[in-house]
Amino acid sequence: KNEINIGLLGFGVVGSGVATILHKHQEDLIHKLGVPVKIKKILVKDATKKRDTELSEDIFTINADEVIEDPTIDLIVEVIGGTTEAKQSIERALRAGKGVVTANKDVMAQFGHELLNLADENKCDLFYEASVGGGIPLIRTLEDGLASDRIWALTGIVNGTTNFILTKMKHEKKSYEEALIEATELGFAEADPSADVDGIDAARKMAILASLAFSTVVRLEDVFVRGMKDIREGDLELAEQFGFTVKMAGSAKKDDDGIEISVEPVFIQNSHPLASVNNEFNAVYVYGDTVGETMFYGPGAGSLPTATSVTGDIVAACRNLLLGVNGKRLHAPRHFCTVKKDTQIFGRY
Ligand code: NDP
Ligand code: HSE
Repeated sequence: KNEINIGLLGFGVVGSGVATILHKHQEDLIHKLGVPVKIKKILVKDATKKRDTELSEDIFTINADEVIEDPTIDLIVEVIGGTTEAKQSIERALRAGKGVVTANKDVMAQFGHELLNLADENKCDLFYEASVGGGIPLIRTLEDGLASDRIWALTGIVNGTTNFILTKMKHEKKSYEEALIEATELGFAEADPSADVDGIDAARKMAILASLAFSTVVRLEDVFVRGMKDIREGDLELAEQFGFTVKMAGSAKKDDDGIEISVEPVFIQNSHPLASVNNEFNAVYVYGDTVGETMFYGPGAGSLPTATSVTGDIVAACRNLLLGVNGKRLHAPRHFCTVKKDTQIFGRY
């Protein structure tokens, strides 16, 4: 192969960031991979939309076949979001023998198990680093870095939008509504922001992380979820008077009886590092038998940080393609977990 062609599904906050990085870091990528990585086609909803890009207009299409069925396209990158078209496109790409990179936590939390099996059957890569923690390499850390350890707990902030809103309410005295509008304008919120504020986005991410950490299949419906819509400015002030900060936190713990997993607003003591994780930043603690306590921190949402994780996956998939080892993976876990409801690491809000 003297070049690798990518079919990009979606050119919004994340997709345009992927194009920027592939363009801006082109020389570095050629140096790392030995061949150029090019975007051949981009699927969008509206091909006539004016876009702030140097890419030529004829690269955009509204016809998924033109991207997925193109025999010269080696790798599909799914960043359209939602579940219907996104899942269908991932399945079609894998069945056509093409590797897939996705940032879609909605799809991976609900269908990750079956899609990873489909990738296995078709000997294709399916990478999804950007689905959790934006620019923080959490998935690879659990899959590789901490692979030998027995992880027994994960806890942290895994949604940028709600953390941004809580930060603006606490430190800039903005209203919930104002802060949500700002988070949406900055590209942090989901297409339907109720997924963020109701805790569903964080629940999807906790299900993905817990599945990897505990080598099992944790389903979205296993996660106990409470959103943040009832929190008001005065509540945050009251918490502050007692030395606490209110955060939306995810928590997953495993013991001999099963797994407890939740997402909810909690009181965190101001002296705890999670209380100082602000704006769209995320932080996740991972506790293992042998490693002890580790903490991973960084931007949890936004165009370029998220696109960094997506392009990291693109590099990994390209390496595998060039080495001819794509699709070689350990089997995805086949067993569903036993779930215990009602977990609590920090004080319940
Ligand atoms: P955007 O809404 O900004 O962009 C979506 C893109 O997909 C647009 O280009 C849109 O086309 C296109 N699109 C949407 N639906 C279809 C469809 N049915 N057929 C063809 N094209 C379609 O989303 P984001 O970039 O913010 O998010 C993309 C994915 O990345 C989601 O899964 C999201 O959860 C995930 N993610 C997002 C993060 C973020 O910070 N924003 C962080 C981590 C993950 P058009 O431009 O014509 O409207
Ligand atoms: N809406 C998500 C968030 C995007 O705010 O965390 C990143 O996954």
